[in-house]
Amino acid sequence: MEPQLPLIMSQRLPLPLLACLFAVSSLAHEATSALHPVVLVPAYSCGNLDARLTDKYRPPAAFPWCAARRGKGWFRLWENHTAVELDPNKLVPCYADQLRLVYDHVAGDYRNAPGVQTRVVAFGSTRGFGSDDPAKKNMCMEKLVKALEGVGYIDGENLFGAPYDLRYAAAAPGQASRAFSEFISSLARLVEHASGRNGGKPAILVSHSLGGLHINEFLNQKPLPWRRKYVKHFVMLSTGVGGGPVVLQFLASAVGSSPPPPGDVLSFANTSRSFASTLAALPSPKAYGHAPLVVTRAKNFSAFDMPEFLAAVGFSGSDVVARYVMRALPVTLNFRAPLVPMTSVAGVGVPTARRLVFWNGDLGAQPQVVYGDGDGTVNLENVLALGTVVGKDPDQPYFKSVFVPNTTHMGIISDDWVLKRVVSEILEASRATHHYNI
Ligand SMILES: *[C@@H]1O[C@H](CO)[C@@H](O)[C@H](O)[C@H]1NC(C)=O
Ligand SMILES: *[C@@H]1O[C@H](CO)[C@@H](O)[C@H](O)[C@H]1NC(C)=O
Ligand SMILES: *[C@@H]1O[C@H](CO)[C@@H](O)[C@H](O)[C@H]1NC(C)=O
Ligand SMILES: *[C@@H]1O[C@H](CO)[C@@H](O)[C@H](O)[C@H]1NC(C)=O
Repeated sequence: MEPQLPLIMSQRLPLPLLACLFAVSSLAHEATSALHPVVLVPAYSCGNLDARLTDKYRPPAAFPWCAARRGKGWFRLWENHTAVELDPNKLVPCYADQLRLVYDHVAGDYRNAPGVQTRVVAFGSTRGFGSDDPAKKNMCMEKLVKALEGVGYIDGENLFGAPYDLRYAAAAPGQASRAFSEFISSLARLVEHASGRNGGKPAILVSHSLGGLHINEFLNQKPLPWRRKYVKHFVMLSTGVGGGPVVLQFLASAVGSSPPPPGDVLSFANTSRSFASTLAALPSPKAYGHAPLVVTRAKNFSAFDMPEFLAAVGFSGSDVVARYVMRALPVTLNFRAPLVPMTSVAGVGVPTARRLVFWNGDLGAQPQVVYGDGDGTVNLENVLALGTVVGKDPDQPYFKSVFVPNTTHMGIISDDWVLKRVVSEILEASRATHHYNI
């Protein structure tokens, strides 16, 4: 379960070759050594997970073959599109069952289904991100990694990656969240390692999408002196202060009659409805206030009405609503300035679901969607709220907000001209001398 820091390899090379390499690389290193190290935290679904099944694993009654890997060691549970695609009808139920989370009422925390053990793949490196699904190409900072390599960044030297288990999220103080706490500890060690390996230069944290909420929470949990010592800048791509109607549409669709798309492990049997991260992605009152996000003839739901909305989309008989109120909502409401220099870069000019209208009250029906401005996933209001929460905080040392026209949520990390802009913001952060108002 514990993610590993990258091994630092010491290679033994013959002496003349070593001298020769040194002579060549010392030139290139001049520029590289001026760079602050970068740690990338990708979007939801980008971190890969390996799993193994112990004797305690019991397959769902309808899918007895799901136990085939019991006792047979580690395999790629998320994401292995290549494997699932071989026989989706047979394999999607297995991957979905083994990926679901259960809530352990004794521990007061989420955990894997009984008999399933998991670990995040390649923590520390940017080589472990991404999906093997051709339809999800370039969704996980792959092109940003290449662009950073183009200006002198090298994986394992001054470029690092912090993939995380997509299923978990931070919990309110006093609530257990072991997996997320382990991610926070591993990320802190990685940032310290990145800085140590680069002459003590503090690191630039660069996130995409949900990764941004995780970094913000991470920073808020670390003591201020630690942040000032180790973090040069936080570059947040395509994220606001929290959640949005897109996840409401997804949750409502589960109560509809149409089956999930074939091959979709996350939707099958409501797998992702069991995740802590789903509750963490519900729209934040800080971004949406009392504006109606879901409209029916009888009742409207704003970001303040998420308990009622959750009950209306099938969670009423469970304690999920209470978990949202106790664990997730306080984290969302606690979103605050990171108190390290910060740049936000987000797309605008793309129609983005703002309000879902289920006029006759049937949330399982296809909604009429009212669009607003944004990047197709994150609403403009959500990103503008950063300007209020972060930009207006008198203790925030520096805040810059960049809007890139006509750019989608994925375009931020995959359109070539936008990548240039993102890299230039990272280089500007690396060169900057922002002073803290201590
Ligand atoms: C995906 O699953 C296939 C079939 O089980 C396996 O051969 C392959 O190694 C897996 N992919 C990864 C990245 O482990
Ligand atoms: C998914 O959840 C909805 C709402 O609780 C429920 O109606 C539906 O039957 C669930 N689907 C599966 C396959 O469990
Ligand atoms: C719901 O919101 C819509 C749009 O703002 C508004 O016109 C309507 O009066 C509201 N309905 C209820 C029941 O509050
Ligand atoms: C955005 O794209 C549309 C359609 O391609 C174009 O008409 C418009 O001028 C573009 N806007 C900006 C600001 O680039």
